Amino acid sequence: MIRTQSVRFIVALFSLLVAFSVQAQKLPNVMVLATGGTIAGTGASSTTTVGYTAATVGVQQLINAVPEVAKVANVTGEQVFQIASESMTNEHWLTLAKRVNTLLAQPNVDGIVITHGTDTLEETAYFLNLVVKSRKPVVLVGAMRPSTALSADGPINLYNAVILAGSPEAVGKGVLVSLNDQIQSSRDVSKTNTSTPDSFRTPELGVLGYMQGNKPYFYRASTRKHTVETEFDISNIQALPQVDIVYGYANMNDVALNAFIAAGAKGIIHAGTGDGSLAAKVKPSLIAARKNGTLIVRASRVGNGILARNGEANDDELDFVVSDTLSPQKARILLMLALTKTSNTKEIQRMFYMY
Ligand code: DGL
Repeated sequence: MIRTQSVRFIVALFSLLVAFSVQAQKLPNVMVLATGGTIAGTGASSTTTVGYTAATVGVQQLINAVPEVAKVANVTGEQVFQIASESMTNEHWLTLAKRVNTLLAQPNVDGIVITHGTDTLEETAYFLNLVVKSRKPVVLVGAMRPSTALSADGPINLYNAVILAGSPEAVGKGVLVSLNDQIQSSRDVSKTNTSTPDSFRTPELGVLGYMQGNKPYFYRASTRKHTVETEFDISNIQALPQVDIVYGYANMNDVALNAFIAAGAKGIIHAGTGDGSLAAKVKPSLIAARKNGTLIVRASRVGNGILARNGEANDDELDFVVSDTLSPQKARILLMLALTKTSNTKEIQRMFYMY
C-alpha cells in the first residue's frame, strides 16, 4: 500500500516538474539590467515622493517585489551600476551598451529591460537606439516615485517592461521606453514633468503604443533608422568625443561657449531660442569655433518642431549642422557618435536626417 502511494507521489512530482519545465520553456528569457534611479529608491516614509534617496535597492530585490513577473518571463537580474542617473557618464553608456550587445548575442536571451533613473533615461535610451546591434527588444524603465511610496509606479512599470521586452511585437522596433502604461520611442520621448507619473511624453509625434492587460499594443513605429540599421559600432571604442551644450536665452553671452571650446570640446550643440536663433553676442564666436574645426549643431530649446536648415542662419555658408527634431541632449549623443566616423558636415547632416 505504502509502496503504491510512494510511486503515485513520485509520478505526480515528476509530472509537476515536467509541467513547470514545459511552462518555463514557453516563457521568454528576459534579462533585467539595473543601473539605479528612483525605481530603486527609498524614502523616509510611504508618503515621501520627493526628497528620497535614489539607487539604494538592488536588482534582485526589485524583481522579488514583483513576483508576477515569473508568470510572464524567465527573469534574470544583473546589477550593472547603482547610480542616480544625473551622474550617468559616457563611460557608463559604453559599458552598458557593450554588456547589452554581449547578452543579446546569446541565443538564450530574448530581450532586455534596463531599470534606470528618469533624469537621463531618454538619453541612455537614444544612445542605445543607435549602438545596440540586435533586433531583440530593449526596454528602458524607471519610476517617478520611490519603491517605498504609496502607489509606487516602479512595480507596475517593471512588470510591463518585462512583458514588452519578451514580446514578439517589440522585435525590430528599436530601443523602447515604457512607463505609465505607454510605449514610447527612445528617439522622440522626453521627461516633461519633474515629479508626476505621466512625466514621459512625446508631445507632438505621439506614443508608439500602450501596455494593457499584460499585452503590448503598437499603433506606430519610428521612421528613423536604429539598432542594426545604423553605421555606429562602439565595440572597439573606449571613449567618446567631448560634445557640450550651450543654452540660449535673452541676454546670453559667449562665455560658456568659449569655456567649452577651451576645455577641448570637439562639438557644440547650440540650444538656441526659437528655431535655433543665434544671439548677436554669440554668433561671431560660433563662426570662429567652426573655422577652428569645432563642429557646430544648431538645435532649439523649444522642445518640438523641425530645426530648419538655412532658416535662422545661413548654415550652408557657415558650415553648420541642424538638429532636425532632436532635442539638444539627444543631438549631443548623435554628434558624439557621428564624430567617431567623420568630421565632414555634409555626412553629419545626413546622419541627423537619418537617425
Ligand atoms: N536622481 C534621479 C535619477 O536617478 C531620480 C529621478 C528618477 O529616477 O525618477 O534620475
